[in-house]
Amino acid sequence: MAERIPFIAGNWKMNLDHLQAIAFVQKLAWTLKDARHDYGVTEVAVFPPFTDLRSVQTLISGDKIELGFGAQDVSAHPNGAYTGEISAEFLKALDVQYVIVGHSERRQYHHEGDEHIAEKVANAIKNGLVPVICVGETAEDLELYGPSAVPVQQLHGALALAGGATNIVVAYEPVWAIGSGQAATPEQAEQVAEQLRYVLGEVLGGEVADATRILYGGSVKSSNIAGFLRQPNVDGALVGGASLDIAEFASIAQFRKHVGT
Ligand code: PGA
Repeated sequence: MAERIPFIAGNWKMNLDHLQAIAFVQKLAWTLKDARHDYGVTEVAVFPPFTDLRSVQTLISGDKIELGFGAQDVSAHPNGAYTGEISAEFLKALDVQYVIVGHSERRQYHHEGDEHIAEKVANAIKNGLVPVICVGETAEDLELYGPSAVPVQQLHGALALAGGATNIVVAYEPVWAIGSGQAATPEQAEQVAEQLRYVLGEVLGGEVADATRILYGGSVKSSNIAGFLRQPNVDGALVGGASLDIAEFASIAQFRKHVGT
């Protein structure tokens, strides 16, 4: 069985300008260094706004910081007359490794549907970016269809043009848990993650399914992270609010200390 390196990803959303980002990343790197963080054992990445990426790239490469970084979205188009869009090619040119695709806030406020998300995923992969594909049910979905049906359907949709992909990350984020302070239970997250891994197997084959990291997201904190990472199919977390607090985010990245391993 493939060993999946746990991944702690900080989604800053629309917070911190490029100057704040520089100070933040510097402090985060120091905090993790002080805690003797081993990035080979637990991978950590931040997802700043587009306007911060160049500054973050320069700092990370100049100071040889092992922190990874990604973007929060990408265009479905390669380039051309798409005002306001950011191309995967441009992100790759900034050494961006990851890109969040299909976050529920994009689905909800920007009306992104499965087809559009599938194009973004395909475009990211084509340009050597690793998509962090977000799926998750609303409170209403949960009541109507149970926890897994909508995430499973969304993952199928997101992978529609991604046949042959080998390097992706999936984030299960129940919409009702995002920013609400009410996280899913580790058992709930595991139940859906298991179903999502099954979908990965169906679409991309057993080997890729086995190697793909599935994250949980939604009100993750240092006080609840260990429970999620104890689950066999949960391989990390996509952290929103708590990723803006350096001590808290560093403590989440150090979840092994909470687990006692
Ligand atoms: P939250 O957000 O940790 O603030 O709930 C998670 C996310 O939206 O990725």
